[in-house]
Amino acid sequence: MEDGLALSELATDPIDQFATWYAEARHSDTILPQAMTLATIDARGRPTARMVILDDFGPQGFVFYTHYQSHKARDLAGAPHAALVFYWAAQNRQVRIEGRVEKVSAAQSDAYFARRPRDSQLSAWASRQSATLPDRQTLAAEIRELDRQYAAREIPRPPHWGGYRVQPDRCEFWAERPDRLHDRCDYRLGPDGAWTLSRLAP
Ligand SMILES: Cc1cc2nc3c(=O)[nH]c(=O)nc-3n(C[C@H](O)[C@H](O)[C@H](O)COP(=O)(O)O)c2cc1C
Repeated sequence: MEDGLALSELATDPIDQFATWYAEARHSDTILPQAMTLATIDARGRPTARMVILDDFGPQGFVFYTHYQSHKARDLAGAPHAALVFYWAAQNRQVRIEGRVEKVSAAQSDAYFARRPRDSQLSAWASRQSATLPDRQTLAAEIRELDRQYAAREIPRPPHWGGYRVQPDRCEFWAERPDRLHDRCDYRLGPDGAWTLSRLAP
């Protein structure tokens, strides 16, 4: 695109803009378009980042699921803010999202958990995510035991597992341009609840 991204062509709401780019990524060769980097900070102000999978997004925010006693969950309990980064290689586009984080409702986590494959459900029960594991066999034995235990019944969601929602107050859309003057379009949420869009230097 010779003229690059024109602010006037972007949606006024970044969720709508995200929906457009996400749909384009999903219909392209981009591998795992739903994978995003999640950065949190610990009690000492030290950042750490890892990949998680986006399940859902909308005006309420961006939802992912994880273990509520993991490293990231401990971080979020102390500092309920996070940054997300998507990179879609086929388009060479990046989206950065920042905002406050809260847990989704138990009902929403239950519904998601019920859709998970059985192996994932067993692993959510068995794996104390981020804890030290003596060896792989310990976890495998625990899974076998749970498999027996739940042989003839539905696996309920473990109370230590569920979703978080990142409620954006900043979203940046980055797009490559051949002249290296890449586009960066930055949405900020004002105290009045309205988004302001500006262009940032690449
Ligand atoms: C592509 C990809 C997707 C992942 N998705 C998730 C996810 O949705 N939820 C999750 O808890 N971990 C996911 N993981 C594993 C995390 O990156 C991480 O190892 C784990 O959550 C433990 O992180 P923590 O110790 O910082 O809490 C994913 C890893 C990769 C590579």
